[in-house]
Amino acid sequence: MTNLMLGVNVDHIGTVRNARGINYPDPLLAALIAEQSGADSITVHLRKDRRHITDRDVIIINKTIQTRMNLEISINKDMIAFACEVKPYSCCLVPEKRQEITTEGGLDIISNKNIVDRSVKCLQDAGIIVSLFVNADIKQIEAAINSGAQYIEIHTGIYSSTTESLLRDKELNRIKQSVKFSVNNGLKVNAGHGLNYHNVIPIASIPEIYELNIGHSIISYALINGLENAVKNMKQLLREVHR
Ligand code: PXP
Repeated sequence: MTNLMLGVNVDHIGTVRNARGINYPDPLLAALIAEQSGADSITVHLRKDRRHITDRDVIIINKTIQTRMNLEISINKDMIAFACEVKPYSCCLVPEKRQEITTEGGLDIISNKNIVDRSVKCLQDAGIIVSLFVNADIKQIEAAINSGAQYIEIHTGIYSSTTESLLRDKELNRIKQSVKFSVNNGLKVNAGHGLNYHNVIPIASIPEIYELNIGHSIISYALINGLENAVKNMKQLLREVHR
């Protein structure tokens, strides 16, 4: 089995920063710490409403990190043009609804064939590797193959959010079949969405998967496990004033 890669998504460092409209915590710093800790790539999702990652974050992270930047964007033409300018290592094309809390499901490549095909070509002409975020659905994967994209990223959100074990096993099997079908047809396969410390092992055990993209659970873990030191350090600072 080859080594499974870990892509760390730092979007939610931006969520915390933007909640206050100030300049910390910085997703760039988080990206550098993630790299130093073993991340094989850094993912950022530039949304139309810029709710977490901003244009500045994309540009500066792309210029600064030592590994690979994977930029998630919708098939909107301004987003594609921005990506072609920035030239990240790879782009993952995802669906985007303005009101959604997080990406809800894979891209409908079949219904959006022309625009997806055009976007893939445009990005590849700029030297960017293209991945399409898809549900574990053979028909959509066939459309991904026909688009010429080099990668797909299988949406693991349904698997992650299903608590009923029979349904979860069914979705896990669908993911395994989809991964096999994709690799047999020349695609490289990543996976992600909703993966956490409790549910990642069955997905990480699928031997053909190249990389997992994980964000929310890693940033949440960092917040909770860093809280003890954060409080102790502030308390220490206050004690020094009154010594
Ligand atoms: N992969 C894709 C395509 C995504 O849109 C996201 C969320 O931005 C992730 C992976 C990471 O999901 P999570 O934050 O749930 O780990």
